[in-house]
Amino acid sequence: MCGIFGAMGNGCVADCLQGLSRLQYRGYDSAGICVKGEGLSTYKSVGKVSFLMDKIPSNANGTVAIGHTRWATHGKVSEQNCHPFVSYKGTFALVHNGIIDNSKTLTTKHLSGVTLSSQTDSEVVVHLLEKFYQGSSLTSAVKVMEILEGSYAIAFVNAKENAIYLMQHNMPLVVGVDKDNNHFVSSCIKCLPSSCTKVAVSKEDFVAKVTRNSVEFYDKNGKAIQPNWSKLTGSLLAASAPVDKGKTHMYTEILQVPTSLQNCHAHFAKCAGIGLSKVQLRHFNRIYLVGCGTAYNACVSAAVATRGLLDVDVIPVVASQFVCESYPVNNKTLALCVSQSGETADTIVAAEKLNAHGAFTYAVTNTDNSRLTFVCKESINICAGTEFSVASTKAYCCQLLMLILLLVDVSYATGNISLVEKQKVYSTAGLLPSIANNILAKQSSVMQLAKLISTSSAVYFVGRGADYPTACEGSLKLKEITYIHSEAYPSGELKHGTLALVTKGVSVVNICTHSGLVGKASATLNEVATRGAQAVSFSPYKMPVGNILHLPVVHPLFAGVTSVIPLQLLAYYTALELGRDIDMPRNLAKSVTVE
Ligand code: AGP
Ligand code: GLU
Repeated sequence: MCGIFGAMGNGCVADCLQGLSRLQYRGYDSAGICVKGEGLSTYKSVGKVSFLMDKIPSNANGTVAIGHTRWATHGKVSEQNCHPFVSYKGTFALVHNGIIDNSKTLTTKHLSGVTLSSQTDSEVVVHLLEKFYQGSSLTSAVKVMEILEGSYAIAFVNAKENAIYLMQHNMPLVVGVDKDNNHFVSSCIKCLPSSCTKVAVSKEDFVAKVTRNSVEFYDKNGKAIQPNWSKLTGSLLAASAPVDKGKTHMYTEILQVPTSLQNCHAHFAKCAGIGLSKVQLRHFNRIYLVGCGTAYNACVSAAVATRGLLDVDVIPVVASQFVCESYPVNNKTLALCVSQSGETADTIVAAEKLNAHGAFTYAVTNTDNSRLTFVCKESINICAGTEFSVASTKAYCCQLLMLILLLVDVSYATGNISLVEKQKVYSTAGLLPSIANNILAKQSSVMQLAKLISTSSAVYFVGRGADYPTACEGSLKLKEITYIHSEAYPSGELKHGTLALVTKGVSVVNICTHSGLVGKASATLNEVATRGAQAVSFSPYKMPVGNILHLPVVHPLFAGVTSVIPLQLLAYYTALELGRDIDMPRNLAKSVTVE
C-alpha cells in the first residue's frame, strides 16, 4: 500500500526520491527519507513526495538513503507519524510497510523507559533493533524478527555502516541490480529504476544485507540462503516511465484497453489455454472465483457470463469474506484467485486457506513474481500492462476476458461445448480490441454525460443479468474517484427498497446490452424518471427516456468486457469536471497489502 525505496552511493538521495515518486501511486498520505552522511538525517512531509522534495536541502547527500511513502494504518497522517523512525540511541533509522500486530505488547515488555515519538506500530521495531544490538545489525534483525507478529517489509540503516538491512514477512520487498552492479531496494519490482536488469526476490521470510555492489540473504534464523534471481523484462522497464505531463495514468490506461485486450488474448493463446489436463479439469466439481474490489466484480461478471457453459458451480467470492465463512473446499475445488497486483493481502490469505483445504489454486494476475503467484499452484498473466492509477480500468477488462477464456477452456474439457464452439469463442474474443476502439471514439459524448452526472447528489447504477456486475464496476469506479455517493443494483431490485431514495437530483445509470431485456430496462427507466431522477443509458438499443450513449452490439459472452469502458470514461470525466485528484483519490492506495 505504501512504499519503501533504498539507494546507495553518490546520488543516493536523488535516486531514492525518484524511487519514491514512482512508488507513491501505492500510498501517498505522507513521505519521508533518511540519509546517512556524517550521521543520520531524516526529512519528512505530509502529502505527496513533491512536498518532501521541497524540504530537502539541495546539497543533501550521503552514502545511503532509505525512503517511505505512507498509507497510515496506526496513527493519523502527520509528520510525527511519518517514517523513517530513529532508534533511542540514534544507531538505526527504519521504514516499514505493513502492520506489527503485537507492537503494544512488545513496547510494554521490552521498551520500558523508551519514549515513543509517534503513534505508529512501526516505531517500536527500530527501538527493538537498538535494544538487541550488540555490534551486529544482522543478529539484531534476526532477534527482532523472532518476536514480531504481523506483516512487514522493513528497511533500516545503521549510522556506522554503508548498507541497507531488510526484514521481510508476508510483504513484498526486492533488490534490483543495474548493469553497473549498483543495488537498489524497492517494495515494488515495477518501481525499480529502468536501468535495473535483474531482481532478487524471496518467497520465504528473510533478512538481507544490501551494500552498493552486493547482497546477502539469510533466512529468519540467520542462515545464508539464495534468493530467486529474475531478469527484468521489457514490460517492467517500460512501466517505470512516468505519465505524460498534464495527463493522468487513469486516462492513459483507459486508452490502452484495446492493446491490453489484444495482448491478453494473444497470451492466452500462447499459453495454450488454462494449462491443466482434461483429466485434471474433469476432476473439479466446484470453481471459486476469488478477488477484491474490481477484481471481484470481474469474477462476478465472468461467472454470470459463462452461466450455462459449465455444469459445475462457478461461485464468485469476496476474498475477505471467504476467509471468515465456511465455504466447502476440498481437492475437487478449483480456485481462480484474481488480483491485478498479486499483492492484495485478503486474496493471498484466501488462497492460503484454499491451499490448506486441498483446493487447486490458480492465480490470475497482472504481475509475475508477485506473492499470489508464489502462493498459488499455477498462474497466468492477464498482460494488461502496468497499471498505476488507483482506479483499475484496463486490468478489469483483461481480468474479465481472461476469466471467460479460462472458463470456456474448462467447459470444453468437461464436454459442455465442442471444439468448434470453443474456437468460435476464441475468434470472437479477437474482435474485442476493435470494438473497444469504437467505444473509445465516443469519448466526447461521454464527456457531455459526465457534466450531467457531476451535479448529482447520488448515482445508482442498474442492470439486469450480465449487465449487473458491469453496473457494480461502473459504480465502484465513480465513487472511488469522484466521491459522489453511488451504489449498484440489479434493476429488478430497485423497486424493493432503493426507489425510496430516487428523487430529483439523483441520477440512475442504466446498462442494457441484451435485446431481450430492453422492455424491462425501459420499465425501470420510466419508474425512475417519474420520480424526478435523471436517467442515463448505455445500450445498443433505444430507451424511452433520458440520455443515451449507443454501444455496439457485442456477443453476450463478452458484452461486459467492452460495456464497462464508457463507465470508466464516465467516472474519469466526472472526476475531471469536479477537479478531483484522479490518480490518487483520498484514503485509497493501489495495492492493499494489509488485511
Ligand atoms: C479498483 O479500482 C480498486 N482500486 C480496488 O478495488 C482493487 O481492484 C482491489 O483493491 C483489488 O486489487 P488487486 O486486483 O490488485 O488485488
Ligand atoms: N503501519 C504503519 C503505519 O501506520 C505502516 C503503514 C504503511 O504500510 O504505510 O505507519
